[in-house]
Amino acid sequence: MADSKAFYLTTPIYYVNDAPHIGHAYTTTAGDVATRWRRQRGEDVWFLTGVDEHGTKVERAAEAGGVTPQEWVDRLVEDAWLPVLGTVDAANDDFIRTTEPRHKERVQHFWEAVRDNGYVYSAPYEGPYCVGCEEFKLPGDLVPGEGEFAGQQLCPVHGRPVEQLQEENWFFRLSAFQDRLLAHYEAHPEAVQPRSAYNEVVSFIRQGLVDISMSRSSVGWGIPLTWDPGQVIYVWFDALLNYATAAGYGAEPGSADAERFERIWPPDVNLVGKDILRFHAVYWPAMLMAAELEPPRKVFAHGWLLVGGEKMSKSKLTGIAPAQIIDTFGSDAFRYYFLRAIQFGQDGSFSWEDMHARYTAELANGLGNLASRGTAMVARYRDGELPAGHDLNEPEQAIITALGRAVEVADRAFCDLDFSTGIVAVKEFIDAVNLYVTEQEPWVLAKDESLSGRLDVVLNTIIESLRAIAVLYNPVMPKAMSSLWEQTGGQAVLGPLMEQRVADVARWGQLAPGTRVTKGDALFPRIDEAS
Ligand code: ME8
Ligand code: MG
Repeated sequence: MADSKAFYLTTPIYYVNDAPHIGHAYTTTAGDVATRWRRQRGEDVWFLTGVDEHGTKVERAAEAGGVTPQEWVDRLVEDAWLPVLGTVDAANDDFIRTTEPRHKERVQHFWEAVRDNGYVYSAPYEGPYCVGCEEFKLPGDLVPGEGEFAGQQLCPVHGRPVEQLQEENWFFRLSAFQDRLLAHYEAHPEAVQPRSAYNEVVSFIRQGLVDISMSRSSVGWGIPLTWDPGQVIYVWFDALLNYATAAGYGAEPGSADAERFERIWPPDVNLVGKDILRFHAVYWPAMLMAAELEPPRKVFAHGWLLVGGEKMSKSKLTGIAPAQIIDTFGSDAFRYYFLRAIQFGQDGSFSWEDMHARYTAELANGLGNLASRGTAMVARYRDGELPAGHDLNEPEQAIITALGRAVEVADRAFCDLDFSTGIVAVKEFIDAVNLYVTEQEPWVLAKDESLSGRLDVVLNTIIESLRAIAVLYNPVMPKAMSSLWEQTGGQAVLGPLMEQRVADVARWGQLAPGTRVTKGDALFPRIDEAS
């Protein structure tokens, strides 16, 4: 590893105004694949996700549901937000809720520090606010309404009229950080990705930053200011801090939390959707600078899952629940499909037809078929004992070379959050091995005793390839790959799949001759178009 710090990746903390849809699962899955890849490289990793429980949006949802905000969030977190982590198979290290005492205390501590540093003052606020975004809007952000909303100003994301606020608030002196932010982004062009997001952020900062309310006097559901308990901290200036409070910011010196903070700060990646780019790439680093903390190394803004050309959304009730897809295709295929079919950073749409087509072609026929053919032939021709693979010929050398290339491309791509390139690199290797099987015709070799040595080599090459594929795809499809790992004998001979390192994958001949190979259940059972 380049440095001794852990690889620290976060997802946004999602509003619990309603249950999660596949847009939230998409970000969490991407974060999970990225961190599983890092673990597979042997890195020390911390993966954080959680929920954003305060603010007007949640308060109004609770009111509409006829319960207190605390009852509302407790129920949704238990019934929906925690279970969805299991549904998508996320291996997060922590889950933060903003109503937890650890968060509230540290948020209060943070804003006291920023106030002591001179970046907080009281002033009246008057202007538009979108509850859907929980955002003070700037005049240039709004679009004129039509039809039922004619004559009103609308939020372009939610398509609803904004509310006009008039409050006596506390302000964060954001304007003081304009030059430092510009200098920071000039020195670190990699700190906001993709490039289009970087350009958008830099041009927004160049247009000039104005101070922004950090508290709300007309909102009750939030964290009170210590020096003015009649006001609560503006929900975004509470929520963004989860990345620090969960890491251990403000913890008792010498405590385990404080130690972790030292080990993992700053975040290597704050993963977000492009809807919340400005909060993460402008306000958030400025807040950290104001408290003399290091800003995140990278904010990555991915695209939107669209429904009818618009962002899928809880507020508009256009969400598809992750279980709707996973009940049919399984969590592995869900993880694979969204990261494979959509270039990370671009928008994309979900379609059952496309998902079914890729599942069938790439998973059931491509990888699934290779695994079942390979293990079945070892069972049939060699009683389930892996034969030796001496005397490699040109076709085997080509497979070994292809594997080396796949590992190199995949490692770079997964580290860069270019998931589709990483997945395709492994897929191309699978295609190469399938072609190899077709060309070598082991079923023909098996008919001629004098070609028995050649059959050994071919079978060994297939199973060695499956061994490598199991490791490379483990971060993407952990359930199916742990089954494949069992089938190839990897588990018995090489130990846990999680402990196999990316750097060692391409080393050929790791499965000793005699290893037990078993044909298990189909990795990706066929799914009827109708289901
Ligand atoms: O913004 N396509 O929470 P939120 C892709 N609480 N990703 C989507 C998506 C879609 N259609 N819809 C949602 C908030 N997401 C704040 C965040 S962070 C300190 C506070 C994902 O419930 C995507 O990651 O509105 C997006 O940024 C996030 O969910 C917004 O979730
Ligand atoms: Mg939102």
